[in-house]
Amino acid sequence: MDTPLINALEALKKENRISFHTPGHKKGRAYESMDDGGIQENLYQYDTTEVFGTDQLQDPTGAIKESQQWTARVFQSPEAYYLVNGSSAGVLAMILSQTKPGDEILLPRDVHQSVIHALILGDLTPRFIQPEIDPQFKIPKGITLPQVQEGLEKYPKCKGVLLTHPNYYGRPGEIREIRRMTREFGKILWVDQAHGAHLGLHPQLPLSGIDAGADLTVTSFHKTLPAMTQSAVLFAGGEVVDRERLLEQLNMHQSSSPSYILLASIEQGTRHYAKAGKEKMQVLLEAIESFEQKFRRLGLFQLDTAPGKDRTKIWIHTENSGRTGHEVETYLRENHGIDMEFSMPQGLLALTSIGNREKDLKKLYLAFEELEETLYNKVKMEKFSEKYSKEAKEGFFEKEVERDKKEPLGLPIRTAFYSRKERVSINKSVNRVAGSAVTPYPPGIPLILPGEAITRGHRDQLLEYEKRNIKVIGIKAGKIMVVAEE
Ligand SMILES: Cc1ncc(COP(=O)(O)O)c(C=O)c1O
Repeated sequence: MDTPLINALEALKKENRISFHTPGHKKGRAYESMDDGGIQENLYQYDTTEVFGTDQLQDPTGAIKESQQWTARVFQSPEAYYLVNGSSAGVLAMILSQTKPGDEILLPRDVHQSVIHALILGDLTPRFIQPEIDPQFKIPKGITLPQVQEGLEKYPKCKGVLLTHPNYYGRPGEIREIRRMTREFGKILWVDQAHGAHLGLHPQLPLSGIDAGADLTVTSFHKTLPAMTQSAVLFAGGEVVDRERLLEQLNMHQSSSPSYILLASIEQGTRHYAKAGKEKMQVLLEAIESFEQKFRRLGLFQLDTAPGKDRTKIWIHTENSGRTGHEVETYLRENHGIDMEFSMPQGLLALTSIGNREKDLKKLYLAFEELEETLYNKVKMEKFSEKYSKEAKEGFFEKEVERDKKEPLGLPIRTAFYSRKERVSINKSVNRVAGSAVTPYPPGIPLILPGEAITRGHRDQLLEYEKRNIKVIGIKAGKIMVVAEE
């Protein structure tokens, strides 16, 4: 078949589904009330390279430098660096530029895979903080000051602290207090704010890493602002940041032919942020407020409205309905043309942005109202098999939570990664040492890290993922990579 990818994209376009996922421009709808900087109209004209006048991302001195300075001013950060390989490149550069092989860093266990990649590449030793799990919603909470204090007292050699803020579920870390502490202890603060480029747009949103004065804060413009996929910005605040090493590392993790479309899209994201962002965020938060109010009428589904969370990430808990988040996600897609960001057994996430319209949220509510009626009346249920309620009763969700109680590392992460490795079936992997990460995607948070001893809990979890056809990077034909036995 010719052009299978284009065909798939064309089919998606025709279906015209509602987007509660990235990118934040929501299929270009964000540009209905504001132009896109001429990108769509001039796609091929703007897709250029380093010619006279276009500057060079690797060592900017002209238009790119000015654009970065403007973005820094808009976000009130001393410096901004444009990223065309997403926050992933920014995470690698920010960590690797401020550490050397053998350094220790303090970080939550539920970090994105790009942080794990930095540990492997930089030969860094992770000192993990286990995030607490919210007992009601069974999702990880943000990192607290006492957790960081305990970590720094236990591992005083740590070069710095990395926070994911807010986390994938919108839960923030205690960033202001943690910033104070990292200063007191003389440690770097890295903030992975991939999910929070929009935080500065409203006082009700969590404080951003930039405003808290973090040394380095990476933001995916494409996730929560109107910008194209892969466009992201790294903000540098701290005086301790070694700028030369930072630029060197950025150039190691980015293409030497950066897309000017993406660079232009970042700049347009800044323009949108500066000119209309606050007003649109106010409208979005009001629409979310009214969504939340209506949603309270439902008995089978609950929203996470924890104080201080980023409410633009709507976490819907499905456990009381006896349906998994995956099932509800499928239901929304098939019956209402609604696409969510991701699902877990206990719930699912709608990612909103200033590109969403109030009517999107109305449709989402009506879909849940209908689902609730359907479930109460036990009609039209042939799509949902009884096994899911059975699993709920048997405590599948509790198994999910256990996933976060990690065993100690069996081998250092880099040693395991570069060892001789072999693939074994999931069933035979228990008590072996993982050779590569095993990562359900989304959210891209590794369940198993290289070097970790594989437990029965891991095995059960992976078998569940297999059974539910959830995409897990690292499983091939039912097998995972472990360190070979001599
Ligand atoms: C917490 C976190 N950090 C970093 C990234 C990487 O961002 P990007 O997709 O822009 O490379 C992601 C992506 O999902 C993420 O969830």
